[in-house]
Formats: sequence, structure tokens, C-alpha cells
Amino acid sequence: MPNLKKIGVLTGGGDAPGLNAVIRAVVKTACNAGVEVIGLEDSFDGLIYPEKSRPLSPSDVTGILRLGGTILGTVNRGNPFIEPIVTPDGTFDYGDRVMEMFQKMKLDALVCIGGDGTLAISYDFYKKGIPLVGVPKTIDNDIVGTTSCFGFDTAVSFATDAIDRLHTTAEAHKRILVVEVMGRNAGWIALHAGVAGGADVILIPEIPYDFKKIAASIRDRDERGARFSIVVVAEGAAPKDGSVSILEAAHGGYAERLGGAGHHCATHLEKMTGKETRHVVLGHLQRGGQPTAFDRALATRFGGKAVQLLLHGQYGKMVANHPPDIVPIPLGEVVGKTKTVPLDYDLLLTARALGVSFGD
Ligand code: F6P
Repeated sequence: MPNLKKIGVLTGGGDAPGLNAVIRAVVKTACNAGVEVIGLEDSFDGLIYPEKSRPLSPSDVTGILRLGGTILGTVNRGNPFIEPIVTPDGTFDYGDRVMEMFQKMKLDALVCIGGDGTLAISYDFYKKGIPLVGVPKTIDNDIVGTTSCFGFDTAVSFATDAIDRLHTTAEAHKRILVVEVMGRNAGWIALHAGVAGGADVILIPEIPYDFKKIAASIRDRDERGARFSIVVVAEGAAPKDGSVSILEAAHGGYAERLGGAGHHCATHLEKMTGKETRHVVLGHLQRGGQPTAFDRALATRFGGKAVQLLLHGQYGKMVANHPPDIVPIPLGEVVGKTKTVPLDYDLLLTARALGVSFGD
């Protein structure tokens, strides 16, 4: 068993409801075990700039369980290794500077909370010699090896509530209402919120869609007397003969920004069906606000387990939800992969059986 005295905790990538619950669990579990915790601000920048770190005690994390965002701040700028870092002490290679500061700050290990990007960067630092454990975070639910990530349930709950609200106005006006949800290249949010909200059409990246098929299903509904339709489209979904809608191409280490699928669908469906159509982009509303009870509990379990792993010298691992347990899995088995919706996923097959159109 390692003699752990001081650990750092950081949050990286896009925020997700539940980050603060993890931080709280890490701080309380570590402090109760006699381990000091340093909060690192803005992801690994907390190890670059000395003013971006601070000790965290249990009293610093009191009351944050239910708060969205992250008290440590975060950055979502892709690969940090490609640019040298300019500090008042000079210009450094990003990786070298992190390694040097980790030693200087006398840290024994890190808890790195983040999505695929942050976990990949963490794995690089683990291979360079930093003992650490990763905690998977994302509203997209696209991290392999864990059945769920905190943030997903909150995003789905919000999107479902939005779909519920859109139902009443769509019905009143006999319109098509298209709802664009996040999720990057995975359709988890669209599928779960779409089914929970009773959508008529669900378009996900895993199933390229055909506008003719969607228009036919909407006409069918009209003929049956259901004069409105709710279409949920994932931001990463694309037509069979088209491409994913992009707001901004990838540049300088930043990933491409997806967006526009809702507008694209609404424009085509209005033309093809002759029905008045509106679209709504839920965007970052899905990442804001308080985490659900499920996400608070999962985030707390992840944070507690991450510290337990460090206390037992189990480094280079990611905590994963394998109901009913939280288990460690090697980070190397996680990075560089995306968990998409399997085409034989029970919820997808059930939705099809209920008559939901996937546009294929
Ligand atoms: O990965 C989470 C996520 O919200 C995606 O669903 C979305 O495509 C992306 O982040 C948006 O990133 P940003 O907040 O940098 O615009």
C-alpha cells in the first residue's frame, strides 16, 4: 500500500452536471483517510501555473453536491501538447512542465475527472510516470467500459422535459417540431430522451437517415389523425446521402463543433411534407443546472472509489459503472474509443416495435 500524503484533483473537457459531486466525494474520502487534497484549476493548467491550485478541505466542498458546473473550472481545447506553454518563468513543453510541477508540488497522485479527451491526456501522463486514476464524465455517455457516465441522466431528463413542452405546442399548431440534442457521434441522448419523451422520429449518428422515409412516416401520422410530429435529431446524425452538420471545423487541437442538424432537418421536412415546421436547439442547456439524484449518487460513488483505488496503489485505472458495482478498468482499454449505440440495443428495438421511425 502506498503512503499517500497529498493528491491533486482536476476537471477537464466540457462540463457535466455531477463534477462537483465527484470533487466533494474525493475531498471528503481523502481527508477522512488523512490525505491532503489540492484542487487544480482549469484541468492540467492547475499544474502549469502555480496560482491555479489551492488546498481543498471538507469545509470547502460543503454544499456543492447539488451544483452544476465545477468549482475548479475546466477547459475544452483539445490537445494541449501541440503548443509550448509561456509562463512568467519561461517557455516550456506542456508535458514537461506538468511533470516538473507535479514533483515540485509534492503531489503523490492525481484524480482526473473528464471525458475521452481528458482521459487520453491523463493516460499519457500516467505513461510518463504520474500515478493517477480517471473518472469518466460526459453527458454524451460515449465512454467505453462503463455502462453510464454522470451527466447523461441529467441531460436526458432535461431533453425529455423539453420534448414534453414541445408536444403541447406542436399539437396545438399541428406542426412538425424538430429538437436537436447534443451527443457528438453517439445517439444516446437522442434515443433515451426521444423514447422517454414519446418522439415520433429519432435520428441518431449510428443510423444514416432518408428524408423520404421520415416524410412518409409523418404523412402516415397525418392520415391517422395525429396532425403533429416530434422529431428528435442528434447533432451528429446525418442523411444517407449527406454529411454531418458542422458549425466550426477542427483547428489548433480543438475538435470540430457540431450543430445545424435540427435546422437542416426542419428545412427539408417542411418542403417535403408541406407542413409548418419549427426547430429548437437545446445546446448547452443540457449541460447546465443541477445534477439529478442518479447523477449525484453515481458521481459520489465514482469519486469515493477513485480515492480508494489510489489508496490501494491501483494506478492507471478508470472507475467504471458495472451495476451493481463500481470497478476499476485499465485506462489503456478506454482511450481512443467511442461507445456508440449498438443497432441491437434493447431500447432501440423496443422503440422500433412501438412504431418510432429512425428514418431508415
Ligand atoms: O461532449 C459534450 C458536448 O456537450 C457534446 O455533446 C458537444 O458536441 C460538445 O460537448 C460541445 O462542446 P463545446 O461546449 O466546447 O461547444
